[in-house]
Amino acid sequence: MHSESPTTLVRAQERGTAGRATAVAHPNIALIKYWGKRDEHLILPRVDSLSMTLDVFPTTTCVRLAPGAGHDKVTLNGRPAEGEALRRVVAFLDLVRERAGSAHRAVVDSENTVPTGAGLASSASGFAALAVAAAASYGLDLDATALSRLARRGSGSASRSIFGDFAMWHAGLDSGTATEADLSSHAEPVPAGDLDPALVIAVVNAGPKAVSSREAMRRTVDTSPLYEPWAVSSKGDLTEMRAALLAGDIEAVGEIAERNALGMHATMLAARPAVRYLSPATLTVLDSVLRLRREGIPAYATMDAGPNVKVLCRRTDADRVAETMSETVPDGSVLVAKPGPGARLLRGDGR
Ligand code: DP6
Repeated sequence: MHSESPTTLVRAQERGTAGRATAVAHPNIALIKYWGKRDEHLILPRVDSLSMTLDVFPTTTCVRLAPGAGHDKVTLNGRPAEGEALRRVVAFLDLVRERAGSAHRAVVDSENTVPTGAGLASSASGFAALAVAAAASYGLDLDATALSRLARRGSGSASRSIFGDFAMWHAGLDSGTATEADLSSHAEPVPAGDLDPALVIAVVNAGPKAVSSREAMRRTVDTSPLYEPWAVSSKGDLTEMRAALLAGDIEAVGEIAERNALGMHATMLAARPAVRYLSPATLTVLDSVLRLRREGIPAYATMDAGPNVKVLCRRTDADRVAETMSETVPDGSVLVAKPGPGARLLRGDGR
């Protein structure tokens, strides 16, 4: 398990690196999905969610204050950010500046190793790394809970990438003031028994998606008659998932994760107009997963806002599952991920 606390690292680094900081964060895959917001501005979700942080596809982000500059300069994978991506980063930096009482613009340089926009959670690692690096460079003294809350404002799922291994993001208080709701909605680590899991990622299409998850979840909440029933059943799924994780019961963890994900996709299919991320290749992979189970290998699928499939299995079965996935999607790519660490500052500023 990865127990290092981002808090300690932020505190230890902050004096030396104020003005410039580099952080690394990994994506996470939800086993109980976040789908639907109750507050678009604060990014408060309608449901609790629970995920596993991965040990692959890290994002490394450097934030450097630029006193005197008239605007933020943001580079993503060596290219100047523009449009919606730039707008989201600048809005996030505005939030950090407001809290830090600073007017300084910043230079942000982010290297993302995950295919962006393919339903592989690039925004989770991206905003978790940005939250940790921006907080440190603007001199904010934030603990892990506060960093999770902050990362949430960039992208909901980023709140979970602050923590390693398994993390649950609380939807938070539904009554009370906006401040109370904001304070109550953050992730926290979730205890797990002897699970030794792997996630085999079958990338069937690494291209960007046609409908952003932000737009898709808005449309689902507004128009899908299946949304409320799924949100209600997701509550039960979460309770059962916590118990299954604690018991180290991979079969139960997999079954609950698979039904929760399929349910989420059902809500989208019933939206008006429908949102369909699952492609023919996705269904072929799902057939293979069923076949593996019939052969006695506990393997369970989950899909996010894209056609790619993540197959949960025991680490000892991961090679066999990966081989089956490679045969199933000969044109795709297959990769084995394990539980990974939480977001952290790089010592010596990563240079
Ligand atoms: C399907 O966190 O990308 O991956 O909060 O609008 O930025 P925003 O959405 P985002 O949505 C992720 C949705 C999901 C499920 C999950 O990760 O829980």
